[in-house]
This record gives sequence, structure tokens and C-alpha cells, in this order.
Amino acid sequence: PYCFAKNQIISSHLAVIHPMDIGLIRGYGIFDFFRTSNYNPLFLSDYLDRFIRSAEKTHLTLPYSKEELTSVIGELISKNNLENGGIRMLLTGGVSENHFSPTDGSLFIFCEDLDFPAPHKYENGVKLLAVEHVRAIADVKTTNYAFPVWHSAEWKQKGAEDVVYHHDGFVSESSRSNIFVVKNGEIKTPDKHILHGITRKRVLELDNSIKIQPVTLNELLEADELFITSTTKKILPITQIDEKKIGTGKPGEITLALIEKFRTIC
Ligand code: PDD
Repeated sequence: PYCFAKNQIISSHLAVIHPMDIGLIRGYGIFDFFRTSNYNPLFLSDYLDRFIRSAEKTHLTLPYSKEELTSVIGELISKNNLENGGIRMLLTGGVSENHFSPTDGSLFIFCEDLDFPAPHKYENGVKLLAVEHVRAIADVKTTNYAFPVWHSAEWKQKGAEDVVYHHDGFVSESSRSNIFVVKNGEIKTPDKHILHGITRKRVLELDNSIKIQPVTLNELLEADELFITSTTKKILPITQIDEKKIGTGKPGEITLALIEKFRTIC
């Protein structure tokens, strides 16, 4: 496979990162992740805008324009014959004398296989563990996922698919997805302490009656239906939080209707 590294398209095994890059030693860097469908990079413009915004907000220099990135990505898709796969863009914090201040980092763009959750998870829904946590610089797609990676041992052991973060009684998101709550036919999604997902954005466009509003932990537990959204999960029904069954314990009608609608756009 080919990737973009060292400012050019090269064979993936030649891509290297300096061990003192603060992306590694301080967890300081940004990334973004999108997928192709039938060789088409889905919603690329939105992902590139978010990547560029993440760089600006973290004071990292992205030495390529949106147009240049689009063209490199097109070339990678064709060279790797990436019909249905994932593409990761990564910008590191760079190597600095004080091992702390960001400098010019390295940009990598590489292609990955993509596995969606198994069909039975969409049919039956999955469980999340509720955990008190706030992501640092939440509206930026930073490379710092140390907390969920560490915590995943616990959620796996408890039969959960992932976590849902809450703080001060309010829910934000899952570790790599956004969350939506359905109650009495009304859909809500929180806006604070979240990464503004591109899938979330598409779902909001599919149903403009969805309310962007704070969601309490109690509303989460008392919901009729819950679902999470992300590039790698699309729309995944949640039927259990900790030991509490959500609604009927089966994916609800509103969630299933949105899953159907989402299928028509990607
Ligand atoms: N995660 N919130 C967080 C913290 C995320 O990392 C992601 C994406 C999302 C959903 O965003 P989108 O719909 O644009 O994928 C929300 C990617 C998929 C990942 O880290 O694997």
C-alpha cells in the first residue's frame, strides 16, 4: 500500500516518525478519519474543513491547502484501489528543543481496511458504560485517546461496546461517537464537550426536527431509544446503559427509520 508521508506519496513501510515528536511523547497532534464508498471519499469537504480547523485550534501548521489535500487523497484512493476503506490524516506536534512546544510536525495520510460493527449489533443494539469524563479540547480531533484506550479493558470485561461520557449530570458523547436521545417521539443531541461529528451533522440534516440541547444523565437512562453516530459505526442503536435497559430493550422505530434514511445518502 501507498501513503502520503515526507511530503510525497511513498510506499507505506517507508513512513517514519521521530521518537521525540511531541505527538508521541506528549500526545500532542491531530487527526481525522473518513471513508470511501465505491471509491468516493464521502463528505470529504466536511472532514477536511474539520482537520484544518483542528490544526488552527491546536497551533499546528498544516502546510497544504484544502485543494492540495483533496488531490493527494484522490491519488491515494486510486493508487491503493480503495473501493470501500478508511483514510486517516495525521498531523503530529513535531520535534522541539524543549520537548514541549509545537513545531513543524509531520503530515501522514494513510489508507486502512474498515470493519463496521457486526450485523447483530445493529439488530439488537449494544450496551454502553456511563463514565464521568470530559475530553480535553473536546471540539478538536486530537490524537489523545489515552483515557478510553485505558478504560476499554473495563468496558470489554463488562460486555459493553463503548462508554458514554457525562460530567456534572450532563451527557456529552461516546469515546469515538456522538449520542442521540429519543423521548416521546422527540430526538435530542448535546452540543457541549463534544467533537462535532460529520455523521452527526448528516443525521441533523436528515431530520431537521432534532433538537440540539443539553441532555442529563437521567434523560439518558429514561430514554425510549438511544443511538450513537460515527464514521465507523454509522448509526448504531444503544439498548443498555450499565445494567439499565433502555426503552423496550430493542432498537426503536425512530432509530430504525433514521438508519434506513441514512442508507440513502451513503
Ligand atoms: N471517531 N466524537 C469523538 C470523540 C470521535 O473521535 C468521533 C470520531 C466522533 C464522531 O465523528 P464522525 O461522525 O465525524 O466520525 C465523535 C473516529 C471515527 C475514530 O476515532 O475512530
